[in-house]
Amino acid sequence: MAPAVVIGNGDMPEFEGRITVYVAVCVVIAAFGGLMFGYDIGISGGVTAMDDFLKKFFPAVYERKQHAHENNYCKYDNQYLQLFTSSLYLAALVASFVASKVCSKYGRKPTMQIASVFFLIGVALTAGGVNIEMVIIGRILLGCGVGFANQAVPLFLSELAPTKIRGALNISFQLFITIGILIANLVNYWASNIHPYGWRISLGLAGIPALVLCFGSFAICETPTSLIERNKVEKGRKILRKIRGVDNVDEEFDSIVHACEMARQVKQPFRKLMKPASRPPLVIAILLQVFQQFTGINAIMFYAPVLFQTVGFGNDAALLSSVITGAINVVSTFVSIYLVDKAGRKILLLEACVQMLLTQGIIGGILMKDLKATDSYLSHGEAIFVVILVCLFVMGFAWSWGPLGWLIPSETFPLETRTAGFAFAVSSNMLFTFIIAQAFLSMLCHMQAGIFFFFAAWIVVMGLFTWFLLPETKGVPVDSMVEKVWKQHWFWSRFMGGEDEVKVV
Ligand code: BGC
Repeated sequence: MAPAVVIGNGDMPEFEGRITVYVAVCVVIAAFGGLMFGYDIGISGGVTAMDDFLKKFFPAVYERKQHAHENNYCKYDNQYLQLFTSSLYLAALVASFVASKVCSKYGRKPTMQIASVFFLIGVALTAGGVNIEMVIIGRILLGCGVGFANQAVPLFLSELAPTKIRGALNISFQLFITIGILIANLVNYWASNIHPYGWRISLGLAGIPALVLCFGSFAICETPTSLIERNKVEKGRKILRKIRGVDNVDEEFDSIVHACEMARQVKQPFRKLMKPASRPPLVIAILLQVFQQFTGINAIMFYAPVLFQTVGFGNDAALLSSVITGAINVVSTFVSIYLVDKAGRKILLLEACVQMLLTQGIIGGILMKDLKATDSYLSHGEAIFVVILVCLFVMGFAWSWGPLGWLIPSETFPLETRTAGFAFAVSSNMLFTFIIAQAFLSMLCHMQAGIFFFFAAWIVVMGLFTWFLLPETKGVPVDSMVEKVWKQHWFWSRFMGGEDEVKVV
């Protein structure tokens, strides 16, 4: 058993407890929610590049793909094909608001259980799809699962984690997302050679993490915060003892009770969120998600195989290249886990902006120069160079905007608006993921290489925003953000200290 340690963070009160095996098990099971999300992100690009899938559901796209003189950039431009990918995110957007209510009213655990049931039905409909309607309905149900899981899992992880390792544990959600994407890339690589049902295997294997989440969720506990918030005070104390592995949890218990009392005074968290004093964390949570998506990451995560075919690789090589970018994504996330509490959030975000700007710019330049719409291919060397640049781009994203896009919104809201505020972060993420999923192939077709300059321009904007407007939150206790961050900031302080800050309930 791990030795008893005193857990604390900076000037946070030091609570007693150790990192128990039980907490570790709960964390791994819950993180399967992230794995499901990642699997869904990674699987659709490979499936939409499989001929058997296209022949069955999108014969027009299949025909177009066969034409030798087809426009390089437009092979896959089809609104329905994009809807296959994007419908999931639209559903997740709506579901995350419902999930936020379920999460506060019934707890994190049932929210995750509902997510797993949505996932399981969604998997059955997509893998067993006989027509496009059935497949799209399946994607919508998967989206509901994503909305519920993404709302509950990060909060569950943050509330269960001992304070000292909360940042790292929170990023384990992103780590599982990237592992899910990588597994999906590997499955696609293998299943694309199984005819004619490879795509069914790809979509069906999503059932495994869903089953783990479904059955595993019976073994996990509810978080003490959620129990106490719902007046199950003694049960909350019992669970706190169990997860911390010590009898004396009085101090931490009292602090949760106090936070819950404060939160309870706010009857309408969504209304409170609209008041000026809530604006700084809300604007930042939403903008981080917008910027995260406008890095262009999902153009690569969803459509890497399509993109790599566009630059001239065959089907297999294109899928293999996606496996490589998927692996880089996983490994680079560890860099973030290691550095985030040492180097800080801002430096990671800014460094990544430079790295992503350069790589997007060079990719755009190469394609503009050498990949014309018709009768033109990149040389093998150039195509490999593009893959390397894509890897460098993914690397930068994976240690910055990927994990921090989720971490920062989860640590900057006060408890009374935390679930409501986080619901805005989740739904903004889904909205902009939807926009990229729905528009990318058409944008690629119309803007051609210019699409990379479009993303590069956004990277400049987000770099400036980070430099001037994003406060550093490294080492700041979660419940001192208002005093230590917002009230001290040259710009955001103007929203603080008004009547609203104290009175709105
Ligand atoms: C983003 C996803 C993205 C993934 C890539 C996540 O943080 O929200 O949209 O596909 O990172 O690893």
